[in-house]
Amino acid sequence: MQVLLTGDRPSGRLHLGHYVGSLQNRVALQHEYSSYILIADVQALTDNFEAPQLVVESVYGLTTDYLAVGLDPNLVSIYIQSQIPEVAELTMYFMNLVTMARLQRNPTVKAELAQKGLEHSLPVGFLCYPINQAADIAAFEAEIVPAGEDQLPMIEQTNEIVRHFNRIYGKGESILKECQALVGKSGRLVGIDGKGKASKSLKNAIFLLDERDVVKEKVFAMYTDPNHIAASDPGRVEGNVVFAYLDVFHDDKAEVEELKGLYRRGGLGDVQLKSLLFEDLEKILAPIRAKGKCVSRKFVREVLASGTGRAREVAQKTIAKVREVIGLNYFS
Ligand code: TRP
Repeated sequence: MQVLLTGDRPSGRLHLGHYVGSLQNRVALQHEYSSYILIADVQALTDNFEAPQLVVESVYGLTTDYLAVGLDPNLVSIYIQSQIPEVAELTMYFMNLVTMARLQRNPTVKAELAQKGLEHSLPVGFLCYPINQAADIAAFEAEIVPAGEDQLPMIEQTNEIVRHFNRIYGKGESILKECQALVGKSGRLVGIDGKGKASKSLKNAIFLLDERDVVKEKVFAMYTDPNHIAASDPGRVEGNVVFAYLDVFHDDKAEVEELKGLYRRGGLGDVQLKSLLFEDLEKILAPIRAKGKCVSRKFVREVLASGTGRAREVAQKTIAKVREVIGLNYFS
């Protein structure tokens, strides 16, 4: 079986943006690939090093979300990045293969620096996280990486590093594997305020384990068309968050088109529209919520311990090979 690997930074809970961007793919493919899901706590520390307790606590929350959404720990190894020292070692070897300029050009890093205001006091650890991420992927010889659109520059950089590594140490042979990203079919999901993508830091996301009444509140707070006051007024569909969500979550696409026509002409109220979306979301979220409630902290620990154990064995094999091709196998 080919290897699938992906993961998230533990710095908060998962929301519907993660669900459509990557989680759905992970769940759908868990039977077809040998799957590894990493909880990137080392990477999370690169921008949360002053709040380690947030990172550690989020490891448990994130694992709960994974299990709630339907990742099966018998099929998938869920593991904690910091507990695989081989990945840190591979990161060191990879560091030699990347220039500062290349890191500073990485569009995802650039956007994050701007968002966090770090352009003028940039910690080296943060700048280097794409190298660490390349090691995450290469250590497992992963071939497919389900992830959101924002991760594409990371995958590109990973493949550059892998090619560079193979060229220098492989003597014509492919030692490490290149990978391919798999982005969810609906791309990025807009936030409920319509201002940008759904994100935890912008407080505009519906979380997978939000309670029913919280989901309802968020749906009813969604940005629509401020000039659409009475149901009979003609309304705008473009930029209307409820329609953006119906495009993604309402199965009957023809019905969505009909509703858009009616809304544009006038005759469809926001309350009716939002109620429809709320029902659609609850079809997805109610089972996730129910499953999440059955996940105990004890079970989470067991899942993490066994997943991390399995993952470490794989990384150890890769690092043995890496040391050998570089020539660092002094005692074997
Ligand atoms: N960068 C990803 C995020 O911000 C997390 C991550 C770390 C990751 N290592 C990875 C994703 C390897 C895919 C593959 O969520």
